[in-house]
Amino acid sequence: MLSEFLDTSDEWITTRTGIKTRHIITEERFEDLATEAAARAIESAGLCPDDIDYIICSNVSNLYVTPHLSSIIMGNLGMKGPLCPTMDVNVACLGFVQGLDLGDALLATGRAHNILLVAAEECTRFCDWTDRNCSVLFGDGAGAVVLTKGDNLIARKFTTTPMTDVIVYKNPMEATPFESGEGIDTHSPLVMKGREVFRMAVTSAARDIAQVTASAGLTLDDIDHFLLHQANLRINEAIRENLRQPEAKFPTNVQRFGNTSSASIPLLLDEGVHEKRIKRGDKILMSAFGAGFVSGIAILEY
Ligand code: UT7
Repeated sequence: MLSEFLDTSDEWITTRTGIKTRHIITEERFEDLATEAAARAIESAGLCPDDIDYIICSNVSNLYVTPHLSSIIMGNLGMKGPLCPTMDVNVACLGFVQGLDLGDALLATGRAHNILLVAAEECTRFCDWTDRNCSVLFGDGAGAVVLTKGDNLIARKFTTTPMTDVIVYKNPMEATPFESGEGIDTHSPLVMKGREVFRMAVTSAARDIAQVTASAGLTLDDIDHFLLHQANLRINEAIRENLRQPEAKFPTNVQRFGNTSSASIPLLLDEGVHEKRIKRGDKILMSAFGAGFVSGIAILEY
């Protein structure tokens, strides 16, 4: 389908990225996708929406600049305010892992007890569909978890290297009556320096994963699952080879979903739990990277 309107091929996409299929929002509403993930997470936790006392939503690509998506999800869940705080985070593809760290801090201080963390992205609606460099890579998706005391992180590391031109998307803005309108730096569709992102992703993971594991008093062999951001199978393969860990510890789904930005790790987690590969007590290392350039790692005992 893509090669009908882009100068691309299944062979190029498969060999360079591993992606075979992706899910694209068409008639559905994005907020419904996010709400469905949230509702399923709350049900799996044996709770009801009114038990939730904090909602955090990670999203980069979303029609609404304001109101924030977590307030929309709250309403769609049938929660009638005034209720708990809601907050969106935008840390690109790292948003879910960063949201876990935020949730962990709220649990540790007793400020919240049942935190709904949703990561929902409609990346395909911010791609320029005439640009083969980006549009073949992305898919839409949503994943969610409920965090309660006991789901604490064992270790984490988050870093930002201010290289703000490697992945850029600018929202449309209006020109004010007080300027000529010429040269206003407004909307630009997604532009990405793919090779640079690839290099930085592998380098930051190689630099930080072993270090964060050691800081938790663990070795790489103690980690049961490495849930890596699903952007490109070759990136994940390079990280795995660097860590010299068995393939079975690195589940992948980029082949089926493409890059769903911050939704990719919760989608992996959900599949692992439902297929009973991920069990209570397992040690999970999550690692993601994205625009900024940001990179982050968190280890969780499930
Ligand atoms: O969530 C974070 C978001 N971004 C990423 O994770 C992206 C990370 N980077 C990547 O995954 C890879 O760099 C890409 C998949 C984006 C590109 O793969 P690559 O092996 O780094 O290819 P390249 O950019 O070096 O391009 C090689 C060639 C170029 O042609 P020339 O200059 O050699 O003639 C591109 O124009 O491939 C061409 N190309 C394509 N050809 C067919 C780029 N996109 C396509 C395409 N179909 N879709």
